[in-house]
Amino acid sequence: LSASFPLNPSFVIAPVNRRTFGTFVEHMGRCVYTGIYEPGHPTADKDGFRGDVLELTRELGATVVRYPGGNFVSGYRWEDGIGPVGERPVRRDLAWHSLETNEIGIDEFARWAKKADLEIMYAVNLGTRGVQEALDVQEYLNHPEGTRLSDLRRANGAKEPYDVAIFCLGNEMDGPWQTGHKTAHEYGRLAAETARALRSAQPGIELVACGSSSSSMPTFGAWEAEVLELAYDQVDYISAHAYYEEHDGDLASFLASAVDMDHFVASVVATADSVGARLKSTKKIGISFDEWNVWYLSRFEGAPTPEEWAVAPRVIEDHYNVADAVVVGSLLVSLLRHSDRVTAACQAQLVNVIAPIMTEPGGRAWRQTIFHPFALTARLAKGEVLRVEPRAATVETARYGTVAALDAVATHDPQTGEVSVFAVNRSTSEPTELTIDLTALPGLQVAETWTVADADPYARNTADDPERVVPRENGSASLSGGTLTLELPPVSWSAVRLV
Ligand code: AHR
Repeated sequence: LSASFPLNPSFVIAPVNRRTFGTFVEHMGRCVYTGIYEPGHPTADKDGFRGDVLELTRELGATVVRYPGGNFVSGYRWEDGIGPVGERPVRRDLAWHSLETNEIGIDEFARWAKKADLEIMYAVNLGTRGVQEALDVQEYLNHPEGTRLSDLRRANGAKEPYDVAIFCLGNEMDGPWQTGHKTAHEYGRLAAETARALRSAQPGIELVACGSSSSSMPTFGAWEAEVLELAYDQVDYISAHAYYEEHDGDLASFLASAVDMDHFVASVVATADSVGARLKSTKKIGISFDEWNVWYLSRFEGAPTPEEWAVAPRVIEDHYNVADAVVVGSLLVSLLRHSDRVTAACQAQLVNVIAPIMTEPGGRAWRQTIFHPFALTARLAKGEVLRVEPRAATVETARYGTVAALDAVATHDPQTGEVSVFAVNRSTSEPTELTIDLTALPGLQVAETWTVADADPYARNTADDPERVVPRENGSASLSGGTLTLELPPVSWSAVRLV
């Protein structure tokens, strides 16, 4: 197969938003306990945080972290997690049918996030709670001093405010599974009033209203429209959540998952802009794609609810293969391509729970296959996102019809002249010969080339063989006369950096 496109530094979509490379830590399963936090682990620091996980988190290159949920947040009392640890209550977490010990609360998490160099995106509980509790947690987090809750934070050891700049107004409030689930009208009013209150305390903060929990929800589109009708002036973003998996051995459709993500983004943009038009507003609402990943959700949905209430049970610990990594890479291509409207995004989640990083309690931490395209994209995508219009061979898919075999995006840093290209070959059987016309970017040299591929698209990393799937140098890259050629193996994700 073949594919080609020209690259031109004038065809700018938008700056690369650093928040595109967000991650997500929910109090769920083993994400927090025995994930980021495990006192007694050989690598644990004085605060009980696993050093191996911290190191991998930094290597992953995530920039922002959504916290503390997820479905968990809709029943969470943030006050349970502050003050002397020994006095904190154990609570039932209805979302994941487990016990929350509250050993980790916002003060500990903020300490961890600082070590990991992550900005916190804080989600408030609008399931069982409302405007007052959102104001309270904002006061605790962000008010400098001299009020009850800011002084309490100071007494708990954090003299300086945490300066959280972005808040999520609840989580997936359209989902009937959500504790405190609401209609679009109920939620839109609550989101607008919570936003108004939070902003009157702190005008500069950024606020995310809940969009649909997936584009397959029966209320998708109508939900966004009604919520935004009620909260348009008060919020900056509407959220989007999407999880993909291979269904019934249909690898071709799975590899084309980004087609769905592209369509999802276009639909939310169209819906938001139509509300803006009706309201005669020139303001544009951004998309916070604050949950996305590969998740074998259908397996989880079929599993029975456990009878016991356990602390940090193993929940949705998916083990990812090469194809999953290719799809994760292609979803990042889609997110970058929409950088004009998708201005924040969080891969869900960071550790153990549908995660790029896995741990064994007391044992090692290791990289899943999906770690690699994320880490490379976060490291190499810099400056501005360039529009890429490929001419490419096509492949047939049962779910999305005929799609281009190649999916690609590029970035260009006007400061340094560096260019990075991210390319996916969706063919399950054929390599794609990619040709890039670089005549508008003279003088570049290939600096690095990486490909994630394997003769077995289902090959995985495990705790015992954590390096089975790693990015390898793509030796086929050749640049001459302003033309770069590169062979992309079937079912592959690649990145090239040129300087
Ligand atoms: O990331 C796992 C779960 O998926 C989150 O808690 C929820 O928001 C979504 O349904």
